[in-house]
Amino acid sequence: MAILKVARLGHPILRKKAGLVNKSEISSVTVQTLIDDMIETMHEYEGLGLAAPQVHVSKQLVVIESQSSSRYPEAPEIPRMIMSNPEIKYLTDEHIESWEGCLSVPDLRGLVPRCQRIQVVFYDRDGLRHTQIAEDFLSIVIQHETDHLFGKVFLDRMEDLSSLSFLSEFKRHKADITLS
Ligand code: NI
Repeated sequence: MAILKVARLGHPILRKKAGLVNKSEISSVTVQTLIDDMIETMHEYEGLGLAAPQVHVSKQLVVIESQSSSRYPEAPEIPRMIMSNPEIKYLTDEHIESWEGCLSVPDLRGLVPRCQRIQVVFYDRDGLRHTQIAEDFLSIVIQHETDHLFGKVFLDRMEDLSSLSFLSEFKRHKADITLS
């Protein structure tokens, strides 16, 4: 396994729509190794998720996992999920706001409104199709990571930029506000 280099905002790959992962491709050594490397990279940098374009691969592949970390101490736990070709359906008009950050937008936090309840259809690392309902924190993380597959970052989803903060200032001044 390897820790991969993370693309930062300004790299054009973050603004491109990623290609679909086809069924024969998912079982290939290349894609299976990429998944393992993405998991290791996510752990190394204490991300809650990572999308393939963030490691310079323009494919619709996402890994998500949340264990309490120093980067997001208040984050609820999410068991590991591997998703390819995710398709999101919004199930409510209700939006929830939370502080988001991103390994490709280092050291910033901003308040982002997201749909509270979604359905996501995706394929796992064995190529099996799943339909899952996600709410609240999990819904936010899935929307954030799926956005990366379509060239979007959380800054694009902020209603206004007035909450945008450097992480160190966020910790000093927004300590009373928790994620989700
Ligand atoms: Ni991100």
